[in-house]
This record gives sequence, structure tokens and C-alpha cells, in this order.
Amino acid sequence: MSSIDRRRFVKGTVATGALIAAAPRVWGSARADDRIKIGLVGCGGRGRGAAVQALSADPGAQLWAMADVFPDPLDATFAAITQAAEIADQVEVPPERRFVGFDAYRRVVESGVDLVLLASPPQFRPAHLEAAVDAGKHVFCEKPVCVDVPGYHRVMRAIRNAAARNLNLMSGFCWRYSTPERDFVRELRNGRIGDITAIDAKYLTSPLGTRARQPSWSDMEFQLRNWQHFTWLSGDHIVEQAVHSIDKILWFMDGRLPVRCTAVGGRGVREQIPERGDSYDHFAVVYEYDDGARCTLLCRQQSNTHMENTDAVIGTKGHGFVNGWGPTHWLKGEAPWTWSSNTAPPNMYQVEHDELMQAIRGIRPRIADDFMADSCLMAIMGREAAYLGAAIEWGRLLDSQLDLSPRSFEMGPMPFPAVRHPGRRTVQA
Ligand SMILES: NC(=O)c1ccc[n+]([C@@H]2O[C@H](COP(=O)([O-])OP(=O)(O)OC[C@H]3O[C@@H](n4cnc5c(N)ncnc54)[C@H](O)[C@@H]3O)[C@@H](O)[C@H]2O)c1
Repeated sequence: MSSIDRRRFVKGTVATGALIAAAPRVWGSARADDRIKIGLVGCGGRGRGAAVQALSADPGAQLWAMADVFPDPLDATFAAITQAAEIADQVEVPPERRFVGFDAYRRVVESGVDLVLLASPPQFRPAHLEAAVDAGKHVFCEKPVCVDVPGYHRVMRAIRNAAARNLNLMSGFCWRYSTPERDFVRELRNGRIGDITAIDAKYLTSPLGTRARQPSWSDMEFQLRNWQHFTWLSGDHIVEQAVHSIDKILWFMDGRLPVRCTAVGGRGVREQIPERGDSYDHFAVVYEYDDGARCTLLCRQQSNTHMENTDAVIGTKGHGFVNGWGPTHWLKGEAPWTWSSNTAPPNMYQVEHDELMQAIRGIRPRIADDFMADSCLMAIMGREAAYLGAAIEWGRLLDSQLDLSPRSFEMGPMPFPAVRHPGRRTVQA
């Protein structure tokens, strides 16, 4: 151990070090060391954050390989991480393990890593996840995990494969790793407000940024650089962003799935510029359950409008409220409860990686965030109900053949998708 390793190991003891020191070697005697080699796929903002958190979670973690479809984000993330004093000594990515292009993820998976962090635009997640699990790698898989139903089925197969191979599979549904939300769900399960009959969830915020076209960019590069605004890449903002609120609905409802949904949506004030792709700027969705329960989602990305990220939960014996941005969490009724703490809750993004590293080392049970596919399918269901202007049933949704991926993945000409028009059934749902 270098002096830096020792310093970090002692520092990390508070969070994980004591557990790690007591951990069994999960790789057995064939392995010469106890490093956890990490491959990063998608080196943008979230990928960089996830890599830093993974390295900070465990002094034996090492960034080993990196992939991006473009060289500039990879170079920028490599430079930023190697300049971060706390983790710089955990970076071991020579040029021959920095891969660029559409197949770069495969080369990371084949580079000898133990854990893959997946943080590209969600269009690619099913293929990247499939490849990582097929190769026997543990995975941190950012949300959303799919943008269409064929992608959902691929992810479900990967989830089953990961279970069969005893691999850890963590999602980026970070609220599941937030202390106040976890405590709130514990109290819901304790029955403080009885059975849940309704939830209203809101994710109201401002638009994400755009990148102006450069002369050298092909159509494909232009769309990739503005991926958040193209449904084939992001799933639209209900799937890309508000899926966090939908995942909380699924969680609070204890994994129950809706049987039917209706929705409205549109592109009220989006600038009509190519950078804004074909995404809507608002959706309102009602999810209906077989026992008559109803959950609603409002989501919006418009400038200078009210911002809110809350969930109100109605039960047979009371009601509850969550404001993750607050943080405010309470339940009122026969058995009231309010979340409180003398200290700020731990950073949920760091908790994710602390727990993942502990699971990889075998000192906590396997992480299996199997819910991640269903949360995304609920979001896809809401989007398609709004795009089509149709009521959609869960059972029929599962048969959808609508595949948003392009014919081929290469930099070059690429058609620009038309904005979907409710009531015009030109695309199979
Ligand atoms: N959990 C959260 O709170 C949270 C927050 C932000 C983003 N995210 C998710 O993380 C993912 C990445 O978001 P971001 O904000 O980092 O976006 P970003 O644009 O900053 O980064 C995405 C990176 O992926 C690269 N990329 C594109 N296609 C690729 C491919 N085929 N193979 C490899 N790399 C590819 C891009 O060049 C870019 O560098 C998205 O799914 C997003 O929804 C989650």
C-alpha cells in the first residue's frame, strides 16, 4: 500500500473501510490482489460523477478502462479524475485502455474489468448492459435503462442473467439510496397510513441545455451531442428525468404495476430549433391499478415556470408527503411521523457506490435493482399514451414492437424525427 492508499484507507474506514478490512476475498486464491477494476462507459457528467464516487467508495477500486463515442468527453473526464487529489492514485487508464466509438463499450468489457459503470444516453443501455452481464461483470447501470419495449425485454433478460450468475446489478435510481426516502418507505410498510389508494407525483423543472451544430458534425453526431432532446436516444424527458418520480411511485406502491394509463402531453413552448429534437415539454399521466388505486404524474421542462419535485401519498388511514429537494418527509393520520435528523442525510449518489462495493466484496447481500426495468416501462407507457392520445394497457404494451433505434450506428446522415402528434396513429405503439 502506498502512503496515499494508507491515508485513504484510514479515511474510508468511517464509511466502508472497517467492513472491507473484514471482508472475504470474493475472487478466491487465483486472484493476486483485491483490486476492483472499473470500466466506465459514457464519460459525460454523470459518468464522471459515478466514477469518482466508485473510487471514493473503496480504496481498492481502480479506474481501469474508459469508453465514449467521442474522444473529447473521455479526455476531459480522464483529465478531471487524474487531477482530483483524493482519487488520482486510483486511476490506471493508459491510452490503450481508452476506447472511442460505438463499439468502445465492448472493448471496456473485454479489458479485464470487474465492474462496469454504464452512463451513456439510455438508447444504448440495453446493449451495454447485455454485454457486461454476458461477460460476467458487476454493473452500475444509470437510469433510464431503456427507451422502448424491445429494450425493456432485453434488460429483463439481462436482469435474469445477472441473478443466475450472482452478479451485482445496481441502478442509478438514486432516491432508493436516500436515507429520508428509505425511512419514509419503511414507515409506509409499517402501515402508518394504511393501504395506498393514490399518489400524485410532480417533476416540474427547467429545460436542459442544447449544443449548437458545428460544421464538422454529421447528423448523427449532432443528435448524439443533443441526445436529451431526441426521443430515440433519451426516451423524452418523462423517461429520461421524470422516471425518478415514476420509480418512487413504483417503490411506494411496493412494486405494484398499473393495468392501464392515459396521458396528455405536448410541446407548448419548446423553441422550434433542431437542437430541441422531437421531445415534448410537458406530460400529465394517470396510472390506474386493478383495485381502483390511481397514481398521477405531472412533469414539465419549461423556463421561468414553477419548479417542484414532490410526491403526495394518500392512504386509507392518512396521507404522506415527500419533498426530496426539501428535504421534507412526513406522514399524517392515526400514526403521524416526521423525518428528522441533526445532520444532513448522506449523499445518495455516494451511498449507491459504498453499498455496491460492499456487495461486490461479499460483505452485504447481492444488489439486484430489478425494479429498474419496470420503472422505465411505466415511463414509456406514459409517453406513448401521450404521443398517441390513446389509453394503453400494461398487458398489450408488453407486445409492442416499436423499436426506436436507427438502422445502423455510424456517424453520417440521419433522418430528423418528426414531433409526435396525438391522434395520428402513424407509428405502431
Ligand atoms: N441518477 C441521476 O440522478 C442522473 C443524473 C444525471 C444523468 N443521469 C443519467 O446518466 C446518463 C448520462 O447522462 P449525462 O448527464 O452524463 O449525459 P452527458 O451527455 O453528460 O454524457 C453522456 C456521455 O455518453 C457519451 N456517449 C454517447 N453515446 C455513447 C455510446 N454509444 N457509447 C459510449 N458513450 C456514449 C457521450 O459522448 C457523453 O460523453 C443518462 O442516462 C442520464 O439520464 C442520471
